[in-house]
Amino acid sequence: MKPIIAPSILSANFAHLAKDMEMINRSEADWVHIDVMDGVFVPNISFGFPVLKFVAELTDKPLDVHLMIVNPEKFIHEVKALGAYTMNVHVEACTHLHRVVQQIREAGMKPAVTINPATPVAVLNDIIRDVYMILVMSVNPGFGGQAFIERSVEKVSELRELIDKTGSKALIEVDGGVNPETGARLVAAGADVLVAGSVIFAHKDPEQMIRDLKGL
Ligand code: DX5
Ligand code: ZN
Repeated sequence: MKPIIAPSILSANFAHLAKDMEMINRSEADWVHIDVMDGVFVPNISFGFPVLKFVAELTDKPLDVHLMIVNPEKFIHEVKALGAYTMNVHVEACTHLHRVVQQIREAGMKPAVTINPATPVAVLNDIIRDVYMILVMSVNPGFGGQAFIERSVEKVSELRELIDKTGSKALIEVDGGVNPETGARLVAAGADVLVAGSVIFAHKDPEQMIRDLKGL
């Protein structure tokens, strides 16, 4: 099975976002990955809902919304209003994760749960059957263009084992430092969805890079 490819617009040119969105629309990308940051959960701020309202109108591809914010449950309504397909919340940001997952599903979106590099796969034992997807961070969240954390490949294998053992249908998504080389190893370890930012937007032919990742 070819991986699902989700370009992250964090590395796009925000002054010419419409142009970059057109490139994504033309490309073999499956989803559009959207990174929302609050300067509290992560040491950076990206863009908020007033900006995303217009971004969402520029594509028909499913929106994969990754919230790097504290108390993400406060924004379920705003994420839904964008027409989001998935809503990814961090384990580390949710005291009542099970409730948040139910609320996302009730709102009509696919609930996804994200783990930081220092968070073990075992933390997912009691939520794995309830989620559409697990997002494994392979860099510390907050910035594009960081070096891939090698341990993430083993984590994907561990997660694949947990999913198979429990009969969960959860997809495995990986985000951070993905390129054709790390992407190939992640897919071999069991990843279903690859997020990629800088490797796409820094490339002279971004559409070709998306095609290369899709071919893994
Ligand atoms: C990082 C974001 C990523 C980021 C990945 O906090 O969650 O989605 O855009 O960027 P690259 O692919 O450049 O590591
Ligand atoms: Zn992300």
